[in-house]
Amino acid sequence: MASTSDMQLTDESVLADPKAFCAQLRKEDKIRFDPGAGGYLVARYEQLNEVLSDPVTYSMELAWERLWSDDFKAIMARDGGGWFPDAIMTDPPNHTRIRRLMEKAFTPQRIRQLEPLITARTVAMIEQHADKGGFDAVVDFALPLTIGIMAEQLGMSEVDPAQIERWAAAMIAQIGRMLTPEQMIENARIVCECQKFVIEMVKERQQTPTEDLISDLVHARNEDGEDVLDFGELVASARAFLIGGNDSVASAITNMLFILATRPDLAEELHASIDDDRYVTRWVEEMLRFAPPTRGNTRVTTRDVEIDGQAIPAGSTIITLFGSANEDEAQFPNAAAFDINRPNLARHMSFGAGAHRCVGLALARMELKVVTREVARRLKDIKLNISPDNIPYKSDIATLTIKSLPLTFRSRKAA
Ligand code: HEM
Repeated sequence: MASTSDMQLTDESVLADPKAFCAQLRKEDKIRFDPGAGGYLVARYEQLNEVLSDPVTYSMELAWERLWSDDFKAIMARDGGGWFPDAIMTDPPNHTRIRRLMEKAFTPQRIRQLEPLITARTVAMIEQHADKGGFDAVVDFALPLTIGIMAEQLGMSEVDPAQIERWAAAMIAQIGRMLTPEQMIENARIVCECQKFVIEMVKERQQTPTEDLISDLVHARNEDGEDVLDFGELVASARAFLIGGNDSVASAITNMLFILATRPDLAEELHASIDDDRYVTRWVEEMLRFAPPTRGNTRVTTRDVEIDGQAIPAGSTIITLFGSANEDEAQFPNAAAFDINRPNLARHMSFGAGAHRCVGLALARMELKVVTREVARRLKDIKLNISPDNIPYKSDIATLTIKSLPLTFRSRKAA
């Protein structure tokens, strides 16, 4: 078997289980250039912090620009109602302006207002399956639940959830950077469908405000009341919500169920403390550190830089391995243990760090707390109905996501 020193991030075995590979990277003196991924692999917590806290030197905008080929943009411009670059995936000062407006969609009031609706939807979905004794945690639960929540929030309740799933998967595959040119063109066609829908939705909200995230975006104003997102920025931002808000939360819910199914000790402790809000908050935070839904992203250097004494030329791609930072023993001693008493629990990198730290994290945290609490309250004896070796994963540079997770369980209502 090849040693981890000879492997690359894009090797199938590494994508399927990057832990050993990332541990090796963290030990090495030099930051490795990975020919397969075409970038420098930043794997240690402190190195990643340095990169993420300097959005001018490490450009999101240039990195994002590299994701979209001219063919993709041309197809979007011709068949998708226009090419609207991702307004939030830019650099300061533009990013700062967009971000301030986008944050208006995630006010504490909006999150509080959404919690009972999300709780009701979650409870209904658990109850629908509780007496059946099992389900596929991804296909029957996490994906339909998060798509339903997002669809309601984006005012897309009338759209077939399978359609939304297809749209989100096409965008995420683009970000995952592992597509052939043919797959990219097919993806562009799917993203066109999505974008045409989003364009109509934005136009409707401009005419008639409604109580949802898109309406919040459309009518967001900065402090002087002047600044607004222009039409292209609105379409791009709504698209970003659809993508950001869906698979990552579904993946976190699946990881939560995997942990409950494989660690009955943790499942019982969680159930015993389920009315303790602080406990559930910490449990969810440690779950995000332990099993991050987002593994990595990219930046491009805007000048020659040095990270930990290593020279990296301007124009280089940097791969930010968020998942690896969460396993860095220098930051999280005994990182392989699930420990809700870690003093620095919330410093995990699952939401990134710095200027681009997840704008939807308050919504994501609330959703995950609600789902974790309601699952633990209603289901017991959760077990894998598949050998752990046979669990199928969808893996690329950006994500490591369980595709299907058959489980058995019993309802706590049953005697
Ligand atoms: C558990 C769920 C989630 C995880 C793990 C997650 C993860 C992340 C990460 C790691 C980043 C930073 C990327 C980087 O710096 O390269 C990010 C940014 C972002 N996320 Fe999330 N996210 C989640 C939920 C959401 C939700 C619910 C939304 C919206 C509805 C959302 C929208 C976004 C957007 C728009 C950005 C870009 C922010 C910026 O560039 O300023 N995410 N997310």
